[in-house]
Amino acid sequence: MVAYTSLALLGASVAVANPLFPRGNQVRQNQVVTVTMAAPTPSNTAWNAGAVTEYPIHASCNATQRAYIKNGLEETITICRQARDHILRWGNSSSIYQKYFGNASTGEPLGWFTKIVDGDKSDVLFRCDNVDGNCRLPGWAGHWRGSNATSETVICDLSYELRRPLEGMCMFGYNVANGATNFYWASDLLHRLLHIPKVGEGVVEHYSTGKYPGVISMAKTNATWSVRDSDTLQYFALEVYAHDVAVPGIGCAGTYTATSSAPVAAATSSSRAASSVAVSATRSPAAAVSSAAAVISSAVAAVSSVRASAAPAVSSRVADTTCTPHDDHWHCPPGVTPPSSPPS
Ligand SMILES: *[C@@H]1O[C@H](CO)[C@@H](O)[C@H](O)[C@H]1NC(C)=O
Ligand SMILES: *[C@@H]1O[C@H](CO)[C@@H](O)[C@H](O)[C@H]1NC(C)=O
Ligand SMILES: *[C@@H]1O[C@H](CO)[C@@H](O)[C@H](O)[C@H]1NC(C)=O
Ligand SMILES: *[C@@H]1O[C@H](CO)[C@@H](O)[C@H](O)[C@H]1NC(C)=O
Ligand SMILES: *[C@@H]1O[C@H](CO)[C@@H](O)[C@H](O)[C@H]1NC(C)=O
Repeated sequence: MVAYTSLALLGASVAVANPLFPRGNQVRQNQVVTVTMAAPTPSNTAWNAGAVTEYPIHASCNATQRAYIKNGLEETITICRQARDHILRWGNSSSIYQKYFGNASTGEPLGWFTKIVDGDKSDVLFRCDNVDGNCRLPGWAGHWRGSNATSETVICDLSYELRRPLEGMCMFGYNVANGATNFYWASDLLHRLLHIPKVGEGVVEHYSTGKYPGVISMAKTNATWSVRDSDTLQYFALEVYAHDVAVPGIGCAGTYTATSSAPVAAATSSSRAASSVAVSATRSPAAAVSSAAAVISSAVAAVSSVRASAAPAVSSRVADTTCTPHDDHWHCPPGVTPPSSPPS
């Protein structure tokens, strides 16, 4: 009783002195205060019951494939955590932030990276059974299953040979400006994760065109979209990891040179498409316009390998109805069926 009373008095003086105590709760002197401790929440009603903390890997992956994919996903989480922590620490004052996200606010990229690091990992599945048969196609290292199963990604065995581990960041002649975003397992799988509705919510998409230069120019002119652009998120995570962790304070940002492989490939197929139109137009000058139009419309109908960026002089109509190659798969506008053969 003595103990209770002094506790009550102590409580009273604290209550009076503390402006956080609402008036009604102020304890009068001599009043006995009973403190009730909350019982621990029963585990079967835990708010996060059933949480999935690791990305699921399908039973079709054998022990080695599983080990590779698990490790790759852990590396993806590593670069995303660093990307998030970099933004949390430096915000938009970071020159890397400004380079990739321009004057956009930090909430959105923070959100995407945090979802991958700490978000629930259900409704995502990596499988190894080549269920759609695409792994037989030359050069295919994996693919999002798209309308066949939007939450699923097939990893083909070629991935295990092609993708580099994160320890090799800034090695092998890689730099951010000229390197492919799928050079490292970590960023390749980041791209694949962003395709999954649970992760990218259909909001993270491919908005920039032309790889690195496209990403850099989008940050300057259209940063609202940079923060939800799949390529931008990959480049940012790679550059931050290189700079903050792999080669601290230095990194390997690189300087873009137009002779790097991806733009060359694009230029080649672009001139091929353009010349086929030019040839048919020259052969029958009278029907030049309709001939060129026929070439265009048949290309559109077949959803051939004419890409949005191909033959820019021909027609802007083509751009809206053609698929664009992205690494080893196509991105097509809604309602357009992707070509049956993979991008060359
Ligand atoms: C897993 O499958 C690949 C081929 O798909 C094979 O090369 C590898 O040896 C297999 N690993 C095990 C442990 O069976
Ligand atoms: C950074 O964010 C602050 C606060 O929103 C804003 O005032 C400032 O203009 C931003 N700076 C850049 C470079 O976007
Ligand atoms: C979906 O399945 C069909 C039939 O198996 C296949 O031809 C097609 O390539 C698959 N789509 C993707 C995106 O893999
Ligand atoms: C910004 O990018 C989005 C997505 O690609 C596009 O729809 C929009 O027209 C662009 N805005 C400007 C001002 O370029
Ligand atoms: C961000 O930059 C764009 C492009 O320069 C500009 O149009 C926009 O007003 C800027 N937004 C803010 C909040 O400064």
